[in-house]
Amino acid sequence: MKVIVAKDYAEASSKAADIIEKIVREEPECTLGLATGSSPVGMYKELSRRCKEEGLDFSKIHSVNLDEYVGLEGTHDQSYRYFMNDNLFDHINIDKANTYVAKGVGDVEANLKEFNEVLDKTDIRIQVLGVGPDGHLGFNEPGDTMYDGAHEEVLDDSTIEANKRFFASKEDVPTHAVTMGMGNIMRAQALLMIISGDKQEAATKLLMDDKIDPKCPATFMRMHRDATVVLTQELADQIGYKA
Ligand code: GLP
Repeated sequence: MKVIVAKDYAEASSKAADIIEKIVREEPECTLGLATGSSPVGMYKELSRRCKEEGLDFSKIHSVNLDEYVGLEGTHDQSYRYFMNDNLFDHINIDKANTYVAKGVGDVEANLKEFNEVLDKTDIRIQVLGVGPDGHLGFNEPGDTMYDGAHEEVLDDSTIEANKRFFASKEDVPTHAVTMGMGNIMRAQALLMIISGDKQEAATKLLMDDKIDPKCPATFMRMHRDATVVLTQELADQIGYKA
């Protein structure tokens, strides 16, 4: 696993954007696996700037997102479809018809069937990831077993706690989500994790350790042959990480 320590969040976002830019320029028709959360926002901003000012072309790029809350329409401002439009798709020349975020409303089983069908026929060139405070990837919460494919998860209380900052109250945070499984994530050709949050110290520490720990799904990244983690110097110092 490659670790990039950036001097601050701006540099972390720019270094992560460099990795995506290289792929988009070399393989302009590939599929990007995308993620939500506050960590990738700076990278999305930088990619939007490069699209507008430097001609980075997303017109033939496809995308598929990691996860979506169950119960939120794509028009809800906390849905991940809304997040992606607002933070990236509305600012680059991607064809929204080529972007896929699983449906959060309607028949969950049917939505999962569709999500799995999309994933089965997609070769994700690079999967962007964040990490939850409890080490979750996408919404794959810690547990004794992990799912291979897309499935529904009951969110851990720590996840609801962490994500309540975006909602009017804790009660408004959805309790369930649909997410790619660990198998889907591990089958991506490359993984790119950006960590910027202040609640991710414990998970990041475990990630830098030499153990694969189901109590911290993010540690599965260590088994991937092309995984990169970008973190800030501040976080590296906090967890005592030395390159
Ligand atoms: C949510 C998402 C995760 C994301 C996590 C971390 O729980 N489902 O995919 O990694 O948030 O978010 P942040 O980047 O805001 O710390």
